[in-house]
Amino acid sequence: MSGIHKKIVVLPGDGIGPEVTNAATRLLIDCASAFGHQFDLHEMPFGGDAIDRCGEPLPAETLAACREADAILLGAVGGPKWDALPIGKRAESGLLALRKGLGLYINFRPIRVREALIGISPLRPEKVRGCNFEIIRELAGDIYFGAHEHTSANGVESARDVAQYDEHEIERVARYAFERAAARRKRLASVDKANVLATSVLWRKTVARVAKDYPGVSLENLYVDNAAMQMVLSPAQFDVIVTGNLFGDILSDEAAALAGSIGLIPSMSRGDSIKGALYEPIHGSAPSLAGRDIASPLGSIFCASLMLKESFGLLPESEWIEAAADRVLEQGYRTADIAEPGSQSVGCSKMVELIRGEMTDSLLHAERYGWGV
Ligand code: IPM
Ligand code: MG
Repeated sequence: MSGIHKKIVVLPGDGIGPEVTNAATRLLIDCASAFGHQFDLHEMPFGGDAIDRCGEPLPAETLAACREADAILLGAVGGPKWDALPIGKRAESGLLALRKGLGLYINFRPIRVREALIGISPLRPEKVRGCNFEIIRELAGDIYFGAHEHTSANGVESARDVAQYDEHEIERVARYAFERAAARRKRLASVDKANVLATSVLWRKTVARVAKDYPGVSLENLYVDNAAMQMVLSPAQFDVIVTGNLFGDILSDEAAALAGSIGLIPSMSRGDSIKGALYEPIHGSAPSLAGRDIASPLGSIFCASLMLKESFGLLPESEWIEAAADRVLEQGYRTADIAEPGSQSVGCSKMVELIRGEMTDSLLHAERYGWGV
């Protein structure tokens, strides 16, 4: 068995970030020892924690380490302690600066309704069963990165945020989305607000141009308001969704709710190269849960399995983690965010222990689980 050697930078961040990244790194270490890989993990300060320790949310050493990394695992950033800081100095600004600094313009969020959790979806089981789609969110432009101004004249305050895209920014993310759709069920839904916004008119035009290179993929354009409604009315219609930064932020939280909890969904952000891709659960830092061992580690654990698959091409290893997590859920163990009547309530560390136990068990009984290791 010839293993791989990878450098992973870990940014625990704030709130529940350290607890959940700790869970994921334990599984990565288990994976390395079980499959003969070497993962060098380097922890760096980031977010509010870095504001406290280094005076800024994205210290230069953290950015430099990320630039050298094969992959990055991030927990979460932000919290009430830093909320009073001006935009640009807050913990979240560090996240935006990191995305920009590393050229991460694609954000990939897989939405999968797990059979064991079908009962916690707010939709009826027949609506969500088998739901499996991908949201590709543009991550480096739009209203997030235009000018943000706050002015005051004659005693009246006003503010403006500039939304901007050029056709190259739209084309590169659209191309990635068409590639993903081509490798799946070959349906791409592009979401915009082209009946109102100039950026959306350019979005739609550019996506239509890129579509010509992918005749095998069927493209549908949806206005964002309709897309938000369709996602609740009939989510199974979606295969791959591509959209701008702001709409993608909003729609991916809605999609996570369909799967049962925002605590379950991982994400991958990348640029032209898969080297240095960033993995972060889409949940926030949940300050009220921090340090109480009650947060769900699943979002971060699924980031680890996504990293193994997307960044390192380690499909059996990724599946090993996913299957172990599914078995624990099937046995009825639940963290608070996905509790159901009759389920067995567990905290963060117990959930990790159960999943690691299943991972070990499946290695010991490799034939029973179809493992060739
Ligand atoms: C996300 C988050 C971030 C975003 C915040 C924390 C800045 O909501 O990753 O979805 O808006 O992109
Ligand atoms: Mg968000």
